Formats: sequence, C-alpha cells, structure tokens
Amino acid sequence: MQGFGVDIGGSGIKGCLVDLEHGRLIGERVRIETPQPSLPDPVYGVVARIVDSFGWTGRVGVTFPGVMKHGVAHTAANVDKSWIGTDVDAGLDALIPGTVETLNDADAAGIAEMRYGAGRDRAGVVLMLTFGTGIGSALFVDGHLVPNTEFGHIQVDGEDGERQGAAAAREREDLSYPEWARRVDRYLDVLEAGLWPDLIIVGGGVSKKAHKWVPLLSTRTPVVPAQLQNDAGIVGAALAAHERPERERPDG
Ligand code: BGC
Repeated sequence: MQGFGVDIGGSGIKGCLVDLEHGRLIGERVRIETPQPSLPDPVYGVVARIVDSFGWTGRVGVTFPGVMKHGVAHTAANVDKSWIGTDVDAGLDALIPGTVETLNDADAAGIAEMRYGAGRDRAGVVLMLTFGTGIGSALFVDGHLVPNTEFGHIQVDGEDGERQGAAAAREREDLSYPEWARRVDRYLDVLEAGLWPDLIIVGGGVSKKAHKWVPLLSTRTPVVPAQLQNDAGIVGAALAAHERPERERPDG
C-alpha cells in the first residue's frame, strides 16, 4: 500500500512516496527550497513539480504550517501572511486535480507518530509537539486527533511560547542544550497548567538529540522523543490522504 505526502515548510518543501504499511519513505525524498517570499502560487508550483517528478497520480496529502480548516489556511505564523484566508485546496486542485488533502503540519506529524511511532497503541490524552521554526502541536484523545490545536502560541511570560521555546530560538541565540531545555521546561510548565496529557511526544529535528535535553525536563507528564523525526509530516500527510474520503467542497 503506497501513498504520497508533501510537507510545506518555511525553508523547504519535501515530498516522497510512502509505504503506508510500515510508515516509511520509499526511496529518497525530494526537497526543494521554499520560494521566497513564500507566496501561495509559487509554492503550489513546487508541490506539483515534486508530485510530478515521482509520476504519482493518486491521492496526495499536503501539510501547511498553520491552521487548515476545510482546505483554507487561517494562520501563517512562519510563512507569508498572504496565505491567510487562501483556499489552498482549490489552488492545489488546479495543478493536481481531485487528489489533494491538506492539513496542519504538526497534525500530520502526530498522525504518523500515533500510527507508526512513539504514540502507537497509546490511549488517553497524547500531545505531540514539534520543535522547529515554531512549535507545532497535535492533540489526540484515545487516538483521535483534535485538529488545529495551536499550543505554540500560548502565552508564556508575555509572549508566544514558540518565540523562546522553538528550536529556532536555540539556534538564533546560540543556546546550549541545557539553556534551551530550561526554556522548554518553562513552556511545558505553562502548557501543563491547562492540560493534563498522559504522554508528550517531542518531534522536529531536535528530537534526534533528545538525550541532550529531554532528561533535563521537569514535567509531570512523561516525555518521549518522536520516532519518525523529519519524515513524520510526509508520512502522516500521506496516511491522512489515504484514509480520509475525498471531501465534498462546501460550495458543492
Ligand atoms: C503554527 C502552527 C504550526 C507550527 C509548526 C506554528 O507557528 O502556528 O500551525 O504547526 O508553527 O510549523
């Protein structure tokens, strides 16, 4: 069983064929730099190029780094603001007709971790957090996704949590892992004041170095690193597109 996923990020757009039985990429993924400015039309062009380069004609899952409801982008924290209010499904449909399922990037990563990775067979409340340019979140209740949670934007000491706690903050300010872990700890403190998950899965590139910072956290909730790491978005998008029936457009 094969699927196809594309992950739209602020710096790169990545896509690959996916083995949906095992939750793995098939062959090498293709990565193309995100056009700058990251406007919708040039980004759609890159997505279509990636899909075409594999000769894929089936359903395609596409992630977006913002709130995605019924194919429309509602926020754009780390990409061009012109995405807000844009019908991404319609834009992509014009280039890759009838095949696209769009969803939030962290939701896609969470879907993959719940099926194939660190959240496999986990009931209860599971929170996946992705640390990258921002902080993405995906919340699951007994394996069911509560879509479009935006916990990167909870207020921590007067600003968006992701401002201090994202992986980008560590790089921007050249923080050591222990220094950055203190920030993540503070962020998780605030998050835990309002949410009592049973498990927190931490993803994004920094999950590869989880041993350097996860043991320093003082959360009451167990924290485990993601297992699919950078491929989670692509895999989860492909799975979502495969499993969700094609949506009726609201306007028919
Ligand atoms: C966005 C989220 C996204 C996350 C990771 C945040 O700034 O608001 O929608 O999931 O970044 O890309």
